[in-house]
Amino acid sequence: MNTVIVGIQWGDEGKGKITDFLAKDSDIIVRFSGGNNAGHTIVLGEKKFKLHLIPSGIFYENKICVLGSGMVINLEVLKKEINDLKNEGINTKNLYISENAHLILPYHILIDQKQEELRAGDKLGTTCQGIGPAYVDKVSRRGIRLIDMFDEETFSEKLKYHFKEKETYLKESNLILKEIKETQMEIAQSLKEQVADTTLILSKALKENKKIIFEGAQGILLDLDFGTYPYVTSCNTLAGSAATGAGVPPYVLRKILGVFKAYTTRVGTGPFPTEIKGIIGDYIREKGGEFGTTTGRPRRCGFLDLVILKYALRINGINSLALTKLDVLSGMSNLKIAYAYRYKGKEIDEFPQNLKIWNEAEPIYKELPGWEKDLNKINSFEELPEEAKNYLKFIEGNLNLKIEIISIGAERNKTITR
Ligand code: IMP
Repeated sequence: MNTVIVGIQWGDEGKGKITDFLAKDSDIIVRFSGGNNAGHTIVLGEKKFKLHLIPSGIFYENKICVLGSGMVINLEVLKKEINDLKNEGINTKNLYISENAHLILPYHILIDQKQEELRAGDKLGTTCQGIGPAYVDKVSRRGIRLIDMFDEETFSEKLKYHFKEKETYLKESNLILKEIKETQMEIAQSLKEQVADTTLILSKALKENKKIIFEGAQGILLDLDFGTYPYVTSCNTLAGSAATGAGVPPYVLRKILGVFKAYTTRVGTGPFPTEIKGIIGDYIREKGGEFGTTTGRPRRCGFLDLVILKYALRINGINSLALTKLDVLSGMSNLKIAYAYRYKGKEIDEFPQNLKIWNEAEPIYKELPGWEKDLNKINSFEELPEEAKNYLKFIEGNLNLKIEIISIGAERNKTITR
């Protein structure tokens, strides 16, 4: 069955690990949105790989990996990622890049940084990788797509237009049109064999009943339309966007797997009702290694929030759940799970769309006893401490859905399936 894997918090849920784990039983792994703002960490034996663009299925020799049309691609980052993998002996020949994907060019990064500076007291805390400005160009129909790179005249014309249009930003920079053109064209040429109409690859696979994993990036609360706007990314991260971002019919998206952490984290600014400031938050951050894969920024940490999870289940049609990083909670005597918010004396359990409510809402918690046991040696659900089982049962009871995969460590084998 085809599976869409989406994060159902604010990103960094461990989608990369779960994708890598499930990829062994699939044929094709497709990224359908975002760019190198994403960071997926995969641990294989002694080695730790950090992927920003390439799907987490690349570590299997015979799987096809696709960068879909809904993505924005920084060719320099992609080339480096491919080279780094090659240097580790990993085959990247089965990687295909959609010719419709838009490019992130050096001036997009510059604009992203400048705009963050201008926002002064009200920063979004973007990853400064040029994601927003590249999507702006796409939406305003002047973006540069990969397909444009193979026609020098078209690429030159578009680049000239951008240099003129973005003059105010560019005049203080040391970016040079000729240099950008040459570098980008050189990389594009080196990848030419792998640039394709990826919808044809996917249609053929679907006809042959091959299994496809659609690997989401970021999380539902960073979705441009349904997240905590404006503190969101610049594209849709919702499960439904797998169809538009990859170019497949929506009815082929059958299993919608929501990945969430045993607690909550968020990078960048924006509301976060269950955030824990102080030593407990610091403890989770250190133990969970909660530092951005792309930017290295410390992630804000908090208790699990069922209000956002219920919302994510509803709007994505999640029919399967994977929980990650349960091991990080070992050693905490007391755990809390928010099941509703209080706002102006009233209890609310539906996701508020109004940012003001988000900022003022106070979480209402269920307190549960924690557990001491290190989960490192555990191989099955039955072996988990009773308190951990109760923690999971409380979540399942509230979400009305079974957690099918439980991750208790970064390695592939630290995964319990039920
Ligand atoms: P942008 O996607 O770089 O424009 O950043 C917009 C917001 O999304 C910021 O709050 C980022 O921290 C957040 N964000 C973007 N990508 C990720 C991710 O992969 N994990 C977590 N947060 C992310």
